[in-house]
Amino acid sequence: MDPLEDSEQEELEALDTLEDFEEVLPDPAEDVLLDPAVEVSDPGSELAAQTTPLVMESLVDKGKAKSIGVSNFNLSQVKRILDVARIKPTNNQVELYLYLQQPELVQFCKDNDVIVCAYSPIGSPNTAFRKNIQHPMTDPVVLEIAKKHGKTAVQVLLRFLIQYGVVAIPKSSSPERLRQNADIFDFELSDEEFNRLKSLDKGPAGRLFGGTTGIFEDCVKHPEYSLL
Ligand SMILES: NC(=O)c1ccc[n+]([C@@H]2O[C@H](COP(=O)([O-])OP(=O)(O)OC[C@H]3O[C@@H](n4cnc5c(N)ncnc54)[C@H](OP(=O)(O)O)[C@@H]3O)[C@@H](O)[C@H]2O)c1
Repeated sequence: MDPLEDSEQEELEALDTLEDFEEVLPDPAEDVLLDPAVEVSDPGSELAAQTTPLVMESLVDKGKAKSIGVSNFNLSQVKRILDVARIKPTNNQVELYLYLQQPELVQFCKDNDVIVCAYSPIGSPNTAFRKNIQHPMTDPVVLEIAKKHGKTAVQVLLRFLIQYGVVAIPKSSSPERLRQNADIFDFELSDEEFNRLKSLDKGPAGRLFGGTTGIFEDCVKHPEYSLL
């Protein structure tokens, strides 16, 4: 990317985005999540691609945020932001679970000290149902490994992600399931079990989110929109 022109710098200074963020971020303990699909003021412009990181960095400088996280950044977007960022993002939250393992993105992020955080880590049962994808909780390999360890299928799915080296944030409205989902640190998958699970990656065919329906339906026309 070329450096900003003076006029572009002025345009940056005129942005009210910083004030907007300050209003919604009264607590400096909050981290800031940057999602190109929803948070840039003029999403299509090269200016927006450059200024949004600058605005986020200024929030860190002002003590309004401890660190910068991004979400739904694909490999090329992570590379681009690392090229321009003075304060690098510490975290990239993306869809990631047994059938969508995103190995290239994960490796690149690891090599560059960006933590990958998996959303829908157990395969978002309701979304999987809508997309007609078999739920990984019923995958025979997962069930076999779960039985061997005396654990649930969900615990195996989460343990796999931990050993894969990503953070997982499973959602549950049930206190009991929340407890179960956290109870994954008293067992370990063997290399063979891990590799069997690793081989179940379906690549893009395993993707649950995206496309013209669901939570990203308003984003598909965005020039930066590409979850791959
Ligand atoms: N950044 C983004 O673009 C983005 C996109 C999608 C999601 N997310 C975030 O990622 C988080 C998780 O995503 P998600 O909810 O789609 O997927 P998920 O965590 O894979 O699945 C959550 C679903 O699994 C059920 N569940 C949880 N634990 C269970 C267990 N032990 N046994 C059986 N069912 C269980 C929950 O039902 P119960 O509540 O009934 O337990 C809930 O319906 C959410 O906080 C969401 O906000 C972020």
